[in-house]
Amino acid sequence: MSILKLQNVEKIYGEKENQVKALRKIDLQVEEGEFVAVVGTSGSGKSTLLNLIGGLDNPTQGKIFIKNREVGSLSRKELTIFRRRNIGFVFQNYSLMPVLNVYDNVALPLTFDKGKHINRKYIEELLRELGIWEKRKKYPNELSGGQQQRVAIARALANKPAILLADEPTGNLDSATTVEVMGLLKASCKKYRQTIIMVTHNEAIAQTCDRVIHIEDGCIVTGNRRFPAKGGDGIC
Ligand SMILES: Nc1ncnc2c1ncn2[C@@H]1O[C@H](COP(=O)(O)OP(=O)(O)O)[C@@H](O)[C@H]1O
Ligand SMILES: [Mg+2]
Repeated sequence: MSILKLQNVEKIYGEKENQVKALRKIDLQVEEGEFVAVVGTSGSGKSTLLNLIGGLDNPTQGKIFIKNREVGSLSRKELTIFRRRNIGFVFQNYSLMPVLNVYDNVALPLTFDKGKHINRKYIEELLRELGIWEKRKKYPNELSGGQQQRVAIARALANKPAILLADEPTGNLDSATTVEVMGLLKASCKKYRQTIIMVTHNEAIAQTCDRVIHIEDGCIVTGNRRFPAKGGDGIC
């Protein structure tokens, strides 16, 4: 099943002479469980693509479907809930809350969702799996970059999102920690049957994923899958 579908998606920032076409006519399908790498030079539109998929911003044109629901048809309130339940975000700068310890940072997305019971067993499992259970009472500034990124990954996974979006998650990490974090993402993709879309500058890392999408100047120039799947690869 395609978990994600983009149809003719365009994003233009700014007005008139200040207009920037960040994405042009993007067509893309991602299957459930795929680990997709998005590569491209700085300014090519990678973060814009991720932000649109995650509902942090709206396309200027085109439609985005997640689990067959058109994200643009949701009201603001519906979108907030839909996003919280289906999408996890990991950023390069970790974006942890400095005043909360590791455990509370990870549990935070769950506390927003009043209807949802906090599954402490699952949080413990995540923290153990990511090797940060022992650090659960520490604060972000007491951790290394790699440890902070693991906390951010645990937080992104706490809601068991169908799609994990990661924008240069290893951008600030040394190569050994990068390998470690990549391993954790892959394990989680497999174990929880998650779909991961990860932006990276690093072509070597990208090549270890199921599929590599190259973006140039707002267009997908290649995006072949390593294994056969339904649905074509949109190329503009
Ligand atoms: N909020 C914004 N307002 C205006 N222009 C933007 C904004 N965000 C990104 N851009 C522009 O859109 C293009 C794509 O940016 P971005 O998606 O951040 O690229 P990447 O993540 O590949 O470096 C760039 O030309 C960038 O300057
Ligand atoms: Mg970017």
